[in-house]
Amino acid sequence: MSSEQMKPVSVKTFKQMKENNEKITMLTAYDYSTAKYVDECGIDSVLIGDSLGMTVLGYDNTINVTVDDMEIFTRAVSRGVKRALVIADLPFLSFNVSKEQTTINAGRLIRAGAKAVKLEGASSFILDEVSHLTNSGINVVGHIGFTPQYINTIGGYYVQGKSYENTLKLLQDAKRLEENGVFAIVLEMVPTETAKYISENISIPTIGIGAGKYCDGQVLVIDDILGKYCGNIPKFVKRYANIKEIMTDAISKYCEEVKSSDFPSDEHSFSLPKEEREKLEYNFIK
Ligand code: KIV
Repeated sequence: MSSEQMKPVSVKTFKQMKENNEKITMLTAYDYSTAKYVDECGIDSVLIGDSLGMTVLGYDNTINVTVDDMEIFTRAVSRGVKRALVIADLPFLSFNVSKEQTTINAGRLIRAGAKAVKLEGASSFILDEVSHLTNSGINVVGHIGFTPQYINTIGGYYVQGKSYENTLKLLQDAKRLEENGVFAIVLEMVPTETAKYISENISIPTIGIGAGKYCDGQVLVIDDILGKYCGNIPKFVKRYANIKEIMTDAISKYCEEVKSSDFPSDEHSFSLPKEEREKLEYNFIK
């Protein structure tokens, strides 16, 4: 990596990348080793997404994820990342209650190592919170389109912004988020044309997930692209590996070798020095 590529990615870098028409790469990570690998591959940003509710904790959705959960995984990921911009999700109702609560919770994730927090939605209440956070020195990423924390009110995994009116509404939300201080916006599950229109009409970067190729950057869930997650995979995910197969092959082989006593062999065991072994054999071993 060149020294330019080694320089830590900041909010300013995101801005420059949009200005230079350079795509921003982002992936989720939830643990130390994965975060380290992702960072070493030169990713621009690592997101500790509340998708960890499904991928790591086994919930059906993100609603049950707490700030305590997010804090632990943010600490682990931050220890593994040297260059990428680390962003942590504010989970369901850790914001949207009061400005004080939001600031305290965001502060916990920043103290755990995140350089920014992400929150879903663009109501006037949330816009106020965004402005309060940015005035308190906390970088904020917005998230509009399909917003998983609102699954119960949306009623399912539906593409958003599918009409002219809804596209205008999303653009209005994006503009308001920008005015209130967010430095990037995740656009989830919106048509390609909608995302293009929004990306071209705001000056901060859009990061798409299921939002087509015209966004300023892309984000996906790492377990999805690696083929590790055992639940449903959305249409917008491209799978780049089949880690599940690699894992289950290795685990089955290990079980077989333990059963057959092929593992552990001498190579993976410790031996007594010859003298001590002889004493042991002479005194105890028949
Ligand atoms: O929780 C998450 O992983 C997200 C996505 C944008 C990837 O918010």
